[in-house]
Amino acid sequence: MDYQPSENRYSDMIYRRSGKSGIDLPAISLGLWHNFGGVDTFENFRKIIWNAFDSGITHFDLANNYGPPPGSAEENFGRILKMDFQSHRDEMIISTKAGWDMWPGPYGDFGSRKYLIASLDQSLKRMQLDYVDIFYSHRPDISTPLEETMGALTTSVNSGKALYTGISSYEAERSQQAIDLLKYYNTPCLIHQPKYSMFDRWVEDGLMDVLGVNGVGCIAFSPLAQGLLTNKYLHGIPEDSRAAKATGHLQSNEVTVEKIDKIKKLNEIALNRNQSLAQMAIAWLLKDERVTSVLVGASSTAQLADNLASLTNLKFESEELNLIEEILKA
Ligand SMILES: NC(=O)c1ccc[n+]([C@@H]2O[C@H](COP(=O)([O-])OP(=O)(O)OC[C@H]3O[C@@H](n4cnc5c(N)ncnc54)[C@H](OP(=O)(O)O)[C@@H]3O)[C@@H](O)[C@H]2O)c1
Repeated sequence: MDYQPSENRYSDMIYRRSGKSGIDLPAISLGLWHNFGGVDTFENFRKIIWNAFDSGITHFDLANNYGPPPGSAEENFGRILKMDFQSHRDEMIISTKAGWDMWPGPYGDFGSRKYLIASLDQSLKRMQLDYVDIFYSHRPDISTPLEETMGALTTSVNSGKALYTGISSYEAERSQQAIDLLKYYNTPCLIHQPKYSMFDRWVEDGLMDVLGVNGVGCIAFSPLAQGLLTNKYLHGIPEDSRAAKATGHLQSNEVTVEKIDKIKKLNEIALNRNQSLAQMAIAWLLKDERVTSVLVGASSTAQLADNLASLTNLKFESEELNLIEEILKA
């Protein structure tokens, strides 16, 4: 099947500036952690990418280990780029990362220069790209000097294999140190990628302030708590859900009675706003202007469409925010 991008693809998306940089990101970006691997259906995820691009999603987030098997999401994405997006590379922000376990032995994990540089080369080969837009240190590694990890990100930019640097899941103090080093090396940190949702608010305890003060963007991962903050688990664990799949990272024991109770109450508020719970969860993150983009996952085009519709109602009354706060803190 041939793909022709929609001519109206930029009409409905909201773009936000990533910190004090020159890069705008879509308020909703698409992540390829789940649903784009070798175990998934090519024609299904190819259509998700088409729909994303047609809706103004310019940012696609990967990592060396996304699959399963590890590396297969990059390979699949590379195939789709070649088949459908050859003349649109310059309209896209593509990111990848290294930091989690990728290959056997001491050089395929954590934050060494050896690992990061080799991994980026492998990612570029899998995606059949000359460069990525953002290369991340995927997680902090306290056993490696920060200078070495940030130095490796700098090398990736200086060699032309990445345009910008990013860090993921670094806590506030280490983020400040990383940001300072990257500034010193003249490869300023474009963005931080932390886990952030209604159910996981650790970033509010210092990290968001560090990012705001330093002019570094923020892209929130697992904004729907891997699907919990949607209508998916309202009545148990469906067979086609991440929590039911052997390859899914959401464990069925995380779908607790207490969580379901909160989800039901949050769902009531969403319905009163004429929104789905997923839409409200995304809008709730975007109320903080320091959040550049919300990085969703999707296993179908319908889910993606549902998530994108959040952009039509981003406003909250203070009463709604108070009610949400009460439910989350209970
Ligand atoms: N930096 C890091 O360490 C890190 C870690 C994790 C993720 N990430 C990035 O963040 C991205 C997003 O993470 P995530 O996939 O956990 O995000 P998420 O948006 O919280 O969860 C996505 C899952 O939620 C369900 N879903 C999404 N929209 C839905 C809707 N409208 N209605 C019902 N269910 C819906 C789907 O689950 P089903 O599959 O069950 O249908 C989907 O696979 C990843 O792809 C990756 O790029 C980064």
